[in-house]
Amino acid sequence: MNKGIAVYPGSFDPPTNGHLDLIERGSKIFEELVVAILRNSEKSPMFSVAERIEMLRTLTAGLKNVRLDTFDGLMVEFAKSIDAKCVLRGIRAISDYEYELQMALMNRKLEPTLETVFMMPADKYSYVSSRLVREVAQAGGPVRGLVPDVVEQKLLEKLDPAYKLRHAREIQVQGRREKKRKK
Ligand code: PNS
Repeated sequence: MNKGIAVYPGSFDPPTNGHLDLIERGSKIFEELVVAILRNSEKSPMFSVAERIEMLRTLTAGLKNVRLDTFDGLMVEFAKSIDAKCVLRGIRAISDYEYELQMALMNRKLEPTLETVFMMPADKYSYVSSRLVREVAQAGGPVRGLVPDVVEQKLLEKLDPAYKLRHAREIQVQGRREKKRKK
């Protein structure tokens, strides 16, 4: 295990199974992993920063050396402020490489002591991105298996406000049935 803090920065709008896979892998090789959400990534994000934190908190609850934070401005400045020695980023395919290389080299220029470490998520998530998940969900397509259940739930609630009510009713009915069955 690597001593010290690593930062895993991103937009996480929303967190996907690929993100979670990388967080789990990162938590095994770094002493402490800080998942850092960029606060001003997009003009109109689908989920507020508070919603993203809530989802990530649920998803990482079992990982004791993972904590969550948010940042604005330069990532290297945030990394410095929490004394992180490494930046963790995921590379899914060659197409990610060019952008990630550019970003890693720019970050190195800005802060030469901060190292970027790349990890690959499981190949079954190699095509999963927050942007495509948003697109599929917004068009009414299924996102099961691409995002954790809690995120799927939030997407359904966000895109269909009536869903929350229906879901609450379904749970109520199920509860009543269970009670009857036990009697
Ligand atoms: O999940 P994303 O959107 O691919 O994450 C990109 C992120 C947040 C890591 C990147 O945009 C970033 O670090 N932004 C903060 C501003 C900054 O430091 N820019 C210079 C990086 S070269």
